[in-house]
Amino acid sequence: MKRLPEHGTPWPELQAELREAGRDDVDWRGGRVPMFIHYAGEDVLDVAKAAYMMYFSENGLGLRAFGSLDRFETEVVQMGLALLNGDDRTRGAMTTGGTESIFLAVKAARDQALARDRHITRPQIVMARSAHPAFDKAAHFMGLEAVRTPLAADFRADPEALAAAVTPDTVMLVGSAPAFPHGVVDPIPQIAAVARERGLWLHVDACVGGYIAPFARQLGATFDDWDFSVPGVTSISADLHKYGYAAKGASTLFFRDAKAFGSMGWAFDGWPRGPYFTHTLVGTRGGGAIASAWAVMKYLGAAGYRRITQRVLDTRVALQKGAAELGLQTMGDPQLSILAYGSPAHDFARIGGGLMKRGWIPGLVTGPDGLHHMLNLTHEPVVGTYLADLAAAMDDAGKGRTTVAAQARY
Ligand SMILES: Cc1ncc(COP(=O)(O)O)c(C=O)c1O
Repeated sequence: MKRLPEHGTPWPELQAELREAGRDDVDWRGGRVPMFIHYAGEDVLDVAKAAYMMYFSENGLGLRAFGSLDRFETEVVQMGLALLNGDDRTRGAMTTGGTESIFLAVKAARDQALARDRHITRPQIVMARSAHPAFDKAAHFMGLEAVRTPLAADFRADPEALAAAVTPDTVMLVGSAPAFPHGVVDPIPQIAAVARERGLWLHVDACVGGYIAPFARQLGATFDDWDFSVPGVTSISADLHKYGYAAKGASTLFFRDAKAFGSMGWAFDGWPRGPYFTHTLVGTRGGGAIASAWAVMKYLGAAGYRRITQRVLDTRVALQKGAAELGLQTMGDPQLSILAYGSPAHDFARIGGGLMKRGWIPGLVTGPDGLHHMLNLTHEPVVGTYLADLAAAMDDAGKGRTTVAAQARY
């Protein structure tokens, strides 16, 4: 077992060890991971890092002490709300990531429903099969039941199936913009119609789409409305550490109005140190992530986001085209940065194994089986190399030459 060393080690030695430790990590800069990274160029990364370091020690728990962070958070929320068709009633806050945003939306929906209806015994979340597991995680942690419904043939949530799954215990409906497995935007207007009719909270999970879908739409992508322009949308999660290109540890959670927003926070006054209030799940929040989000948004501006978005969309189209030439069809009609493609004729676990052998971490989807990517600019220059390796991996798998099978893992 490793113990804390009695004596310290000089930084240069530690720095060398840190560098060495990452030597066998996947080459993310070479586009070898199908997700986890959101790279928008060296200049954006430099801004994100520099702003992070400037506020490395400051703490978002102490907005009374750090008016700077308070200002950055307020401005980030305002910029986000403006992008998502917010108005003077909408509200929001920064959180540390998509999962935290989703937890807090679930908590707010649950608290409001329980305050309104004392007959609810086991509050339920109703969502499509493609919704992110963070909802199940939140349900598990907070004593709710997560109910999943089948997808429609176009891989989007099926509003009729969602409506049919609603019970008197349902406290939240979920739609995704887009859903992670196939990258398609759910039919939010129809889901919102169900939510309005049944008096339910509708959360739109735009953790992926929040900071790319508005720009993709401006560039001509076609998908249903999904933000606060749709009556019936109660809350939206949108991650800054994905397509906002901020340092990791930054997301936003937005609410239709102050009442919904009010259910997000938590207050306590039963100890000797005075009233304690946080609107987030966590207490301490790294100031770096807040400053980084603010700086990257201001650095890029809408024009910068559009420029990067266009390149990401072009990369998706190139990959879709190349995959089609190999006989692999895109699932549904993804219009953003995520795609999945496959064919019943192939064994994707084996093909994934062949890709691993060639230095790629494969993303796999199941039911139907295929390959999956959440794209960023690291993928742009390697589409051709990837497709050539994919063709070779398919060939190997077809001839029974691949011995290692990859597993579908997040
Ligand atoms: C659609 C969607 N929602 C939520 C999340 C969770 O976000 P995080 O990993 O930041 O907690 C993700 C992560 O990929 C996602 O794709």
